[in-house]
Amino acid sequence: MNSAPKPESATSEVLLSISDVQKYYPIREGALQRVAGHVRAVDGVSFDIRRGETVGLVGESGCGKTTLGRVVSGLTDATGGAVHYNLDGTLSQIDHLQDLQARQFRRNCQMVFQDSFASLNPRHLVLDIVGRPLRVYNEASSGDLVERVVELLEQVGLGRQHLYRYPHQFSGGQRQRISIARALALNPEIIVLDEPTSALDVSVQAQILNLLNDLQAERNLAYLFVTHDLSVVRHMADRLVVMYLGKVCEAGETQSIFAAPHHPYTRALMAAKPDLDDDRAGENVKGLDGIVPDPARPPQGCRFHTRCEMATPVCGWEVDDVVRWLEDEPGMFEHLSGVERQSEFNAELAFDSEEAAAKLSMAIRSESVPAAMKSALKRLKLDGHKVDIEFEAVDEVQLTARDGGRLASCVLDPDEVAAKSQ
Ligand SMILES: Nc1ncnc2c1ncn2[C@@H]1O[C@H](COP(=O)(O)OP(=O)(O)O)[C@@H](O)[C@H]1O
Ligand SMILES: [Mg+2]
Repeated sequence: MNSAPKPESATSEVLLSISDVQKYYPIREGALQRVAGHVRAVDGVSFDIRRGETVGLVGESGCGKTTLGRVVSGLTDATGGAVHYNLDGTLSQIDHLQDLQARQFRRNCQMVFQDSFASLNPRHLVLDIVGRPLRVYNEASSGDLVERVVELLEQVGLGRQHLYRYPHQFSGGQRQRISIARALALNPEIIVLDEPTSALDVSVQAQILNLLNDLQAERNLAYLFVTHDLSVVRHMADRLVVMYLGKVCEAGETQSIFAAPHHPYTRALMAAKPDLDDDRAGENVKGLDGIVPDPARPPQGCRFHTRCEMATPVCGWEVDDVVRWLEDEPGMFEHLSGVERQSEFNAELAFDSEEAAAKLSMAIRSESVPAAMKSALKRLKLDGHKVDIEFEAVDEVQLTARDGGRLASCVLDPDEVAAKSQ
């Protein structure tokens, strides 16, 4: 398999390099727990993170951001591809490191999670939580541990008075400060921040973002900032990587993406407002219609075509799309008796009755399905109680290099995307 192209990262030193990373989770079924398929949580992602920069990794809930963040920080093994980390000037694959180097990598790459309640042990005092990495790595003798922890707390806007308290005695924003202090303890080079402010009120969110900015400037830290909310990283990230269903659909400099997104998904994310009424501070994104398809069976062509307002006949229409569109129509597939599938693009659907077959064939020609999907039909043949459906077969849409180091995977060129969204 060809590895996907990467956004350019020539100007300064690459700290961490992600090459064609895949993470598939097996789906097991039945008493024998046979593997029936795979959730393709991350499906061939490549990009670099340079020293001192912030890369924003954005996309809706379920698109694979957390999984990728965990692979990057070595918490989860990839099922394909590789992550390389710059250890003393050499990019080394993180799952092949020997003891000392593995230790050096783990110290240098820390993670902060969204849910500070789950990630901070409720039975431990702040002193123990923030001091633990120092003790594990023998960084502080018991004598100066307290002072080192106080120093760290002060860097995140807390202080000595917080040493002997438990996590539940703090607000959400303060708990996130504790998580950040712990992440800073070993003086890392990069922190993977997984939705670090998504559970916080907007004003508290801004304070944490400011804190992260200040710490970055002081320490030349790199961040991989994972979020479903593009507006959060707009002013934080130097570059953006936009993911949809396990794949990168657009990447490039934040400013240039905001000035003119090349992928309709990015455009939809920009127009969307995370739902603030939602209890979970909104991982649902308003303004994007339809549900995210099953990552175990991602759509053909462009994975976003099932929800894309600008979809064309060559975006990957397949037999499953007919079902996706029409399954909610009463009785449409009730009398389906068999499916003979030649490919994703071609199948013969058999029904109990000729009426049922005729009903489907009519519906496919009706206004109920998108015009682009109808235009993509190569054959639609009603033969008694069978309907033969064939779409033009297309390959998966690849990321292509655009001007200014941008990457995007859309069959439309940027001018068309801009014109269609007027
Ligand atoms: N341990 C796991 N086992 C099986 N599926 C998983 C596991 N972790 C995540 N997934 C699936 O992988 C996909 C990506 O999940 P995740 O990385 O959490 O996305 P995000 O952080 O973007 O919301 C989802 O469909 C999720 O259900
Ligand atoms: Mg997540």
